[in-house]
Amino acid sequence: MKTASKDQPLKIAVAGLGTVGAGLLRLAEKHASLLEDRSGRPILVTAVSARDRNKNRGVSLDGMAWFDDPVAMAARADADVVVELIGGSDGIARQFCETALGNAKHVVTANKALLAHHGTELALVAEEAGVTLAFEAAVAGGIPIIKSLREGLAGNPIRRIYGILNGTCNYILTAMHKYSHEFNDVLKEAQKQGYAEADPGFDVDGIDTAHKLAILASMAFGARVNFDGVYVEGIRHVSLTDIRFARELGYRIKLLGTALLTNEGVEQRVHPCMVPLDSPIAHVEGVFNAVVADGDFSGTIIHEGCGAGAGPTASAVAADLVDIARGHSTPTFSIPAKELKSLPASPLEHRTGPYYIRLMVVDRPGVFADVAAALGRHDVSMESVIQRARAPGEQVPVVMIIHDTREDRMAAALADIGGLEAVVEPPRMIRIESF
Ligand code: HSE
Repeated sequence: MKTASKDQPLKIAVAGLGTVGAGLLRLAEKHASLLEDRSGRPILVTAVSARDRNKNRGVSLDGMAWFDDPVAMAARADADVVVELIGGSDGIARQFCETALGNAKHVVTANKALLAHHGTELALVAEEAGVTLAFEAAVAGGIPIIKSLREGLAGNPIRRIYGILNGTCNYILTAMHKYSHEFNDVLKEAQKQGYAEADPGFDVDGIDTAHKLAILASMAFGARVNFDGVYVEGIRHVSLTDIRFARELGYRIKLLGTALLTNEGVEQRVHPCMVPLDSPIAHVEGVFNAVVADGDFSGTIIHEGCGAGAGPTASAVAADLVDIARGHSTPTFSIPAKELKSLPASPLEHRTGPYYIRLMVVDRPGVFADVAAALGRHDVSMESVIQRARAPGEQVPVVMIIHDTREDRMAAALADIGGLEAVVEPPRMIRIESF
């Protein structure tokens, strides 16, 4: 381990001075002495790069070199570490990181999209160059889940990791549950309040969760990052009717990212889940994130906290900087990048579990017999059914809980059921998760 010296500051160049970048500068200023105590040397921001030099960020840039071009900064700044807060899986952010690594500078990034798409390759380059690629801030904001997996749980093989990894989705689902509003109304309100992006696709369609999950799976299983192997389904189709039935049946609906080892490889999936009310994850509310890791000796470890925002994300970046300042170096994804395994994606069609199914059907004799026949044809067994409303000739919801069934059989049964004349909307299916 390199020993740090008090009179040898760790010099930082920060690219991207949005919410998180400005938050990092504030943290570095406010906690300069704490960071120095914990690192054994000062941490100094020596250079910055952003779109607009004159924007008021509520933080002084005095004494920092300004670069209009972040890639030039990565090449030329007087810095030991560059911090990438630009975002995006390719383009400038990628060039910036590659340039820094090529110039033997450590890289700290909050960019989950970049890591999900190019994490293994960047780790190979970093390790070959003998520098660190650190990304605590990329997954679940202020929750130190990366360090926890890489170090705190190093003595445990992890077979499953799952969590609520997107605050926007959790905020929307929580508000639907609490205030009985439909998805679109909550989303509009969240956008007005600034909780949701003007373009919410990455969040509500599950892509942001999938990026984070692919990184977690790599850390947990010592596997190459495989974003393309993630099954992704967002929350747009979750209706208030489903939220109400979930409550009645003793569940909450949460968007979970789940990665687990199976006999066939790694199953990675992002989709709304019914989670039992007695599971801790059911009570993670609002913009909070939570990550649960199952270790064999540690048992189940639950991490919960703020998954986004200036403070939590800056805190995670600072933790990486302190590690680098101390000369504390670990393989990027828990094991050396060249030893990461290429594990095949385990097909979701082979997953077995219970399901919540909601149909909108015309209330008339014989409809249920047709539904039951379709289930029977595919060897799908029902645990319970609810049809409460009585409205002859009108549409009514019918909800079924299905016993453990393989996903491909469930899908085939739903295709048949969806084709029945009395079923007036595509069937809604939400997987039930048991922990
Ligand atoms: N937009 C994300 C969220 C935070 O809502 O949790 C950044 O990944």
